[in-house]
Amino acid sequence: MNKLKLNIAEAISENTAVIWGEALKISAEDIVSALEFPPDTSMGDLAFPCFKLSRTFRMGPPVIAAKLLEKLKEKLPEGTCEVRTAGGYLNFVIDNAYLSGKILSEIEEKGANFGAHDFGKGKTVVLDYSSPNTAKPFHIGHLGTTVIGHSLKLLHEYAGYTCVGVNHLGDWGTQFGKLILAYRKWGNPEAIDQNGVDELVSLYVRINNEIKAEEEQGLTTLADASRAEFTKLEQGNEENYALWKWFIDISLAEYEKTYKQLGITFDSYKGESFYYDKAPAIVAELKEKNLLTIDDGASIVDLSAYNMPPCLILKKDGSTIYPSRDIAAAFYRKNTYDFDKCIYVTSAGQSLHFAQFFKVIELMGYDWASKLYHVPYGTVSIGGEKLATRTGNVILLRDLFATAIEKCKGIIEEKNPNIENKDETAEAVGVGAVIFYYLYGNRMRDINFVMDDALDFNGNTGPYAQYTYARTGSILEKAGDAGKATVISDLTATERELIKTLSLFPDKTLDAIDEMEPSIITRYAIDICNAFNRFYQECPIATCEDAERRAFRLALTKGVHEILGRALELVCIKHPDKI
Ligand code: ARG
Repeated sequence: MNKLKLNIAEAISENTAVIWGEALKISAEDIVSALEFPPDTSMGDLAFPCFKLSRTFRMGPPVIAAKLLEKLKEKLPEGTCEVRTAGGYLNFVIDNAYLSGKILSEIEEKGANFGAHDFGKGKTVVLDYSSPNTAKPFHIGHLGTTVIGHSLKLLHEYAGYTCVGVNHLGDWGTQFGKLILAYRKWGNPEAIDQNGVDELVSLYVRINNEIKAEEEQGLTTLADASRAEFTKLEQGNEENYALWKWFIDISLAEYEKTYKQLGITFDSYKGESFYYDKAPAIVAELKEKNLLTIDDGASIVDLSAYNMPPCLILKKDGSTIYPSRDIAAAFYRKNTYDFDKCIYVTSAGQSLHFAQFFKVIELMGYDWASKLYHVPYGTVSIGGEKLATRTGNVILLRDLFATAIEKCKGIIEEKNPNIENKDETAEAVGVGAVIFYYLYGNRMRDINFVMDDALDFNGNTGPYAQYTYARTGSILEKAGDAGKATVISDLTATERELIKTLSLFPDKTLDAIDEMEPSIITRYAIDICNAFNRFYQECPIATCEDAERRAFRLALTKGVHEILGRALELVCIKHPDKI
């Protein structure tokens, strides 16, 4: 659609110069960004609103539209076959030959790469996502950062960027003092070997409860002992270090299982522990630049001039903390990867933390602070049904996926009992359903997760999209050939709509990157499915009697297969060949 938009914009731009003179010419660039898709295609396929021009040209929008129309009619922009006005709008109709010949041929040629870009070539993007806090449960709150982060990585790669996915593990901090203490008091190595992270979590829950109970009696014995264990760890005590390392390995093994289900890998697992000895250099620089002040014993950067609370750099006892480690990490990444963007995906609850430390880096005089982006998202709650959990009031991602997979197995058993790879398919559909449901809304919206809605094959869901994908595959398989893009001069309305929808893929990937919004792709996948299913109901494909039309429809089906498949991949969703 880009090329066509450009043709139209250039024609309008030239004509503004012809009618109103070179000095008042409106640039093609400004016009491209103003082009709209009319809500009702009977009005046309693309529209240009003239309202913003009335100031410049000192006349009403309908008059401007009429004057432009007169000129445009003399020579229609390439790819259009008609232009008309409706009030202050100019409406363009796309030529059937352009849709079926030009656009479909390009889709045929590029296949799944039709929506790709190359503006990221030679540039690097670092993406910090997932980043669970080790030894605490990997719960549903981390689903957002994991799938939004990974989709953004895939989208940037699709635009040519070199991407570095970093799992900034929460693997340092006083919680490890608590865990070490709990292990010394009640730990059982066999139980940990057997139950992995669950055992660690229950130790952690237990020590926290006991600390709380002590607190209620005005005591701090356990809290002090935990802090002492962490200090020992920070000072390099070998025993504590070995325990810490063991706990991290156990947690990672557990996360790996979830990442594998999601098809996610990371390029780096450098977490907070990697930065605690790199923070002192930052502190020294802050001091040297007179940015550090002491407040009640702690070192802070005052941000009151920017309407923010101070950024805490060192605690009273001189130990580093979350923000100081994040500043050290940003410097490390800048030096290591020389990024063009460094993207952090976390819940909106951490927005202030990011705004604060981005500001500190800016105040240190580094202009690359403007290349740091925080991508926040809303909260998730679980509606409908209770999901089993062994760890108190949190929902583990693992349990959520297991429930979805189990339910899918039941549905598949009923719908298609003879399918091969039943388990693999149930996993792809179950996990895909959860991800799709999660990524369907704007990322800032809070989500109430309802499993049956996510699994509804007739809703705007992952299973519906995967099912449509499988359907296109089986049509092509049965037909035995992939067809051929051909010029068809009498396209039906559903054929036109489907090609137009496919043609938007590059625009959608661009928007998704600009807005850092994977939901643009999930929604687009549904648009494709709806347009395809209308076409499928109305038009015989492999059974079409006209050979040319049959070839064209098969090529169109192939285009849907490739583009829908890639769109799903870009949002971390697998697409089995059969469901
Ligand atoms: N571990 C943190 C959490 O679970 C998220 C870390 C995000 N990344 C960062 N560089 N601060 O809340």
